[in-house]
Amino acid sequence: MNQEIHFDSLWVGFHLATMEDGQYNTVTDAAIGVIGGNIEWLGKANALPVHTCDTKHDLQGGWVTPGLIDCHTHLVFGGNRAGEFEQRLNGVSYKQIAEQGGGIAASVKATREESDEQLLTSSARRLRSLLKDGVTTVEVKSGYGLSLEHELKMLKVARSLAEYFPVDVQTTCLAAHALPAEYQGQADAYIDYVCAEMLPAIAQSGLADAVDAFCEGIAFTPAQVERYFQTAQGLGLPVKIHSEQLSSFGGTQLAAQYHALSADHLEYMTEADIAAMASSGTVAVLLPGAYFTLRETQQPPVNLLRDYHVPMAIATDANPGTSPVLSLRLMMNMACTLFGFTPEEALAGATIHAAKALGLEQTHGSLSVGKTADFICWDVESPGELSYWLGGELLKTRVKAGEVAHVA
Ligand code: NIG
Ligand code: FE
Repeated sequence: MNQEIHFDSLWVGFHLATMEDGQYNTVTDAAIGVIGGNIEWLGKANALPVHTCDTKHDLQGGWVTPGLIDCHTHLVFGGNRAGEFEQRLNGVSYKQIAEQGGGIAASVKATREESDEQLLTSSARRLRSLLKDGVTTVEVKSGYGLSLEHELKMLKVARSLAEYFPVDVQTTCLAAHALPAEYQGQADAYIDYVCAEMLPAIAQSGLADAVDAFCEGIAFTPAQVERYFQTAQGLGLPVKIHSEQLSSFGGTQLAAQYHALSADHLEYMTEADIAAMASSGTVAVLLPGAYFTLRETQQPPVNLLRDYHVPMAIATDANPGTSPVLSLRLMMNMACTLFGFTPEEALAGATIHAAKALGLEQTHGSLSVGKTADFICWDVESPGELSYWLGGELLKTRVKAGEVAHVA
């Protein structure tokens, strides 16, 4: 005899792209049954087992995909850097601005001056845009504090966003983002301080899920980042890296040695970097918003990443300097138009591969039995439309852990 299933909620009236294995894996005329916030059943609606349910939702058409995952943002920051945008349009480079005390240093100054409440207000406004465009999980980095007090302040604000919005927030400590003014000319001494004092206290606070570094000529060397990674791993924190963004500098291979969750940017990566990532299982996070804003011309080697089967995620890199981007769907479009992704790869990059870049692929990023019921119903005729439109309001219904969770 068939046992009757009792769902908390049952969803019908849509086509489905599950994104299992990074592919659309479509199911037309689908249904999803949810118990306790997780998917209990999914498949063709006409194959539903005998069931009852507390609430039945008819989505009345459209396509359902996993909730989008923005796996690389710097959403919490003070002030903004629109003035630098104008400078760059007048021909001053990102590197020159950084060397003149602008760039990340300008955001550090503004972030240190703001209170928790001020930072929360401005980051909430930015987060709202991401969520309204389909994001259900977001990563937020620190890195504009660069002292224990201010890094903790940023991480606390980032974590608290999940109290106000229906979103999962993953926090990343980016203490090795830039050299703070008080350590000018003493990068090694700053890394000593970070390793001896900051990282242990941050690990102790439980406010960071991972640790990230900027490995570049204007930031930290591979040798400095290695000390930082060793400390992080000793404290049980997984690592990530910003690497090969402005030059080929060695960060990616170092990150692979430390089994980094992801290496991000990667325009200047080499084939040897890709081979190292393939063997360590590190996700390549590509950031078309920063590429576009900096008017970079060196493209990340997407064909080679494909050849080596390195999973490619995409993210907004939302930050005040190089990527003032508040739509992950726009990044899906740019991954296609600027980097040669297919729309299917772009959706995988903003769902299952983004989940892997955060170490969340067991629970998030695709729709299958046992995973969290985070999904979006889009007003589109095919999932490729998600990468096709620039802007527009495509989101019909936003579901977080099996509940309708719209964001005003
Ligand atoms: O991901 N590359 C370094 N960090 C940021 C830029 C941050 C900034 O300019 O404020 C990035 O592009
Ligand atoms: Fe970044």
